[in-house]
Amino acid sequence: MEIGEVKKRIEELRAEIAENNRRYYVENAPVISDYDFDMMMDELMELEKAHPEFLTKDSPTQKVGSDLKKEFVQYPHKYPMLSLGNTYNIEEVEAFAERAEKSLGKTFTFCCELKFDGTAICLTYRNGKLFRALTRGDGTVGDDVTDNVRHISNIPQVLKGGGYPEEFEIRGEIYMPYKAFDRLNEERTRNEDQPFANPRNAASGSLKLINPKEVSHRGLECTLYHVLGENLPFLTHDQALESAAAWGLPVSDKRKICRDIGEIEAFISFWDTERKALPFATDGIVIKINELACQKELGYTAKFPRWAVAYKFKAEQALTKVKSIDYQVGRTGAVTPVANLEPVLLSGTTVRRATLHNAGQMHILDIRIGDYVYVEKGGEIIPKITGVEMEKRMPGAKVPEFPKYCPDCGTMLVRDEGEARFFCPNSDGCPTQIKGKLVHFISRKAMNVIAGDATIEQLFNLGFVRRPSDFYSLTKEQLLRLEGWKDRAAQRFIDSIEASKKTAFDHVLFALGIRYVGETTAKSLARHFMNIDALMAADRETLLSVDDIGEVIADSIIDYFSDPGHREEIERLKAAGLEFSLEEKSGPKSEALKDNIIVISGNFSVSRDEIKELISQHGGKNSSSVSGKTTYLLAGEKPGPEKLKKAESLGIPVIDEAEFRRMIEGNTESPAADAGPSHEKADAGPSREKTGAGPSNEDIAGSGSAAPVQLTLF
Ligand code: IVH
Repeated sequence: MEIGEVKKRIEELRAEIAENNRRYYVENAPVISDYDFDMMMDELMELEKAHPEFLTKDSPTQKVGSDLKKEFVQYPHKYPMLSLGNTYNIEEVEAFAERAEKSLGKTFTFCCELKFDGTAICLTYRNGKLFRALTRGDGTVGDDVTDNVRHISNIPQVLKGGGYPEEFEIRGEIYMPYKAFDRLNEERTRNEDQPFANPRNAASGSLKLINPKEVSHRGLECTLYHVLGENLPFLTHDQALESAAAWGLPVSDKRKICRDIGEIEAFISFWDTERKALPFATDGIVIKINELACQKELGYTAKFPRWAVAYKFKAEQALTKVKSIDYQVGRTGAVTPVANLEPVLLSGTTVRRATLHNAGQMHILDIRIGDYVYVEKGGEIIPKITGVEMEKRMPGAKVPEFPKYCPDCGTMLVRDEGEARFFCPNSDGCPTQIKGKLVHFISRKAMNVIAGDATIEQLFNLGFVRRPSDFYSLTKEQLLRLEGWKDRAAQRFIDSIEASKKTAFDHVLFALGIRYVGETTAKSLARHFMNIDALMAADRETLLSVDDIGEVIADSIIDYFSDPGHREEIERLKAAGLEFSLEEKSGPKSEALKDNIIVISGNFSVSRDEIKELISQHGGKNSSSVSGKTTYLLAGEKPGPEKLKKAESLGIPVIDEAEFRRMIEGNTESPAADAGPSHEKADAGPSREKTGAGPSNEDIAGSGSAAPVQLTLF
């Protein structure tokens, strides 16, 4: 690969990994399998190894994915909360054991455990009582979920017996057993809520519920596997777990002390089969050096302990027969082939359908009707077909024919530029696309109207709603004609529609469903143009000057607004009273910071997002890293040491919040606190700099764990 190509590939991989990390840790809705994610990470690691000149501190290979949410208060971790190096191949476990042997040069043992597939938790016990529970967060600070954790039944509030240290931490995994997961998803489907893709997402979503009482109904469980503290009286990890169990803490007894790689392999292969009978999900085996002195000697990298490794099981596969293929039209008109299968059991559930993604993928697989295929569960709810068992192909098996016309409205399909997907171009006339757009319009991150797909289906079939503006003229009488609807449901729906009129402009923009305009892009556009008229009037060049808007998005926006039908619909929505501007709330306030590029670091009296908003309201630009172009480093409490060092070395002035406010003083009409959705608590945005992580985090330990990172609301 040429050097330019390497750089480009590294950037691509980093962007994809960052997006998938966000979907996994924040949205709890991954779109790719763990295996595919790990393969991307491996490729990035290899490229960075071969080209260390491109390695940066903020590469995803150097830090753990972040699960922080602004609805929670955040506290620093006393000891960094790291991840585990992982592998899918036994030779690498062997290499891990050999490396440890070589660097330790003495006898030691391994403790092998199940790898629980949930979300990591860090519990602190003080004087025998549960004091605090933090999520992993970004590894340095975590979200405080203590109130929620108190509703998980197998986590003791008070320890039993005696002999426990005055204060210690114990880390583990919170997960949702299959039974609770099935029950929850059934309930969500009944209530027309989006079901969770897998038990892991259900567990992390449930742990972050805003109402702690709801947590108790979710059936979460916890297993703890790592004790930490000062001067702990144990020689081995196994002893620590045994003591924890004696104090009433939930510790797994499915662990084994192994003396060599042969015993480790036997443990792995035993559980690769037996795990299928467990009532909860496991995704591998964790192999840890058992002796704590040896662990200390081996230490940590920036991201992983050198004393442990995870062997991950490959996703379970099943072999089954393709009965037929359906072609489904989505909201954007993309046509997705979905195979109907002979039912087959896969990771605890019966699979009847699997996605083939697009025409390109069908071609690569060379699939025929009647073929036996391998199905696998990825990150999504719908499993995917990963291969065809050619040896079982019947002679004369029929080659599936991708439709030429839309299966829904009969319009001739067109192929997208990459030639992989077919689209129905009849975006405003194809019923499936219309319904898809309506569902998108009312979805949580758009207009947030309480209703699901089935309601839209009925409203559409009865001819009551054909375009988004129709929602705003629905009457109670019409709603009472929906199957099973009584007065209360109808009133709830009407109230929800009415409340949606207050939705902020950026969400309204996202709700319009302009191709490629996702949540983040909608935010950038709203902040830049401030109102829909300015956005509609923007030419390509102006659009391209907006942060994060490239040619594809710019063309799509131009295309959308050049359609008179879309303009008319916007007028109707305006007339219904929807928010089409940000002007009143966060219009530009001054040019006090014009041409200034400001990097922020640390914590402020308001959220970091609000500080960023102030910078842009006063004509400045926010940038994430310090460089020669930076005008100021705006340092809050506990700024990142790396950024400070860099600013000093480049001679860039460091200002504090008071000074920053003086600079914009007299220009601020009102604090920018109301720029985002109004109900949100301050984003306690911690400093994300890594500290080169050892087992104790010098930068944060001094601050103790008593004070939240940042709490104050404006
Ligand atoms: S030990 C310093 N043991 O897997 C890291 N982790 O993919 C110590 N996990 O971050 C972690 N089961 O959240 C450990 N028996 C086990 C585990 C386990 C699940 C999770 C943990 C970790 C992740 C890495």
